[in-house]
Amino acid sequence: MPGIAVLGAQWGDEGKGKIAHLICRDAEMSVRFNGGTNAGHTVVFSKVKASEQGEFKFHLIPSGALYPQCTGVLGNGMVIEPFSLAEELIQLERTLEGPARVYVSQNAHLILPYHPIVEKIEGAASELDTTAKGIGPAYQDKVARRGIRAGDLLEPKRFQEKLRRNLERLQALHPSSRPLMELKAEPLAEKILSAAQGFKKRIVDTTVLLHEALATDQRVVFEGAQGCLLDIDFGTYPYVTSSHGTIGGIGVGAGVSPRWITRVIGVAKAFTSRVGAGPFPTEERGPMGERLRGSGANPWDEFGTTTGRPRRCGWLDLVALTYANRINSFTELALVKLDVLSGLNEIKVATAYRYQGQRLEDFPPDAEILRECEPLYEVLPGWSQDLRRCCSWEDLPRNAQRYVRFLEEHLEVPVSILSVGRAFEDTIWLDQKSH
Ligand code: IMO
Ligand code: MG
Repeated sequence: MPGIAVLGAQWGDEGKGKIAHLICRDAEMSVRFNGGTNAGHTVVFSKVKASEQGEFKFHLIPSGALYPQCTGVLGNGMVIEPFSLAEELIQLERTLEGPARVYVSQNAHLILPYHPIVEKIEGAASELDTTAKGIGPAYQDKVARRGIRAGDLLEPKRFQEKLRRNLERLQALHPSSRPLMELKAEPLAEKILSAAQGFKKRIVDTTVLLHEALATDQRVVFEGAQGCLLDIDFGTYPYVTSSHGTIGGIGVGAGVSPRWITRVIGVAKAFTSRVGAGPFPTEERGPMGERLRGSGANPWDEFGTTTGRPRRCGWLDLVALTYANRINSFTELALVKLDVLSGLNEIKVATAYRYQGQRLEDFPPDAEILRECEPLYEVLPGWSQDLRRCCSWEDLPRNAQRYVRFLEEHLEVPVSILSVGRAFEDTIWLDQKSH
């Protein structure tokens, strides 16, 4: 059976874009099922007509859509900002030098201009240090059953009416908000409907496309946004996003039975990063954190694709990864950015926590307990070689191999893909079934 999930195993920014794109080389369909413009998935690819490399920063469209044979699907579990989608489609078609095969679920909810304003007013943007894209308020509207969906864009009258009602409600709630009071329903609706002209024809019942693909044994890749520890239920609540980036998110976010998913690839960095507020036991606040983050001079340094914020960095946390594996049952791992660890004498890996004097081996999903956990490390020897020249397992220095094996044995999950650089070619395939 042909469904493959590519999921973030940490706090997001694991390199899901690169891995999903690699897996999609021979896929017919690539699907996003959660989140919205809070995601930033960068793909570095070789241009077809020239020897130089291109780069594409995806926020809404799944990264497989860069391949002409691969249909991109934006599932119902997403929240879609119409202006961003219109713009991303233009960029994609420019890159493809032709039409993009991208479809949007009619049931996906819309992020509308008032959502980021509400997020600011309610304080989530500053207290939780969100991406401030309006993600939380858009999902709030969905659950409160007053959301506006992509399908509503196909019925201009209905869309205008819903927008007017929602805006009136918000203006009555927050009469002192200038940016909110300045929004006028009619011209706003017109502006959005006009932006939607660019993708109206793409709004369909995507479950039909998906089931057709799955039932005819086509390869379908589900690209998660965010990561397990940012999942609304399984993450470090309330320092999480508002959707499900874990395996269950695929079922409800794309309309697919779990029966179809046979490979679950967990994507993890060889260290840990987190952007935004919330507990992070293995965070290194001193020079080691800076060393892992990089100065920002290189495109692979740890600064947000979506917001440009510096990411908090620290050692690999196997307590958290074990938890992510429990929730998702990874069939394999893609280990990313192993090259960043080159040049360190010693590499630390957290295998347990200390909490109130006790040794803790299970990840506590309660943020307040996690905040008080101190990591207990095992120290592994480092290596000095630059890994970006390594093409196979045998090319890797012995201690890099040891690091990977340590992780596999601890998690009892094989590492099938090793990423040692940003480009497509900087990848070592360790498992035949990944080819
Ligand atoms: P990708 O798909 C990293 C974080 C934000 C904030 C919290 C809530 O690139 O891995 P939100 O705007 O979603 O309400 O913010 O979640 N966050 C991410 N961090 N990568 C992401 O996506 C993220 N999407 C949201 O920084 O702490
Ligand atoms: Mg990101």
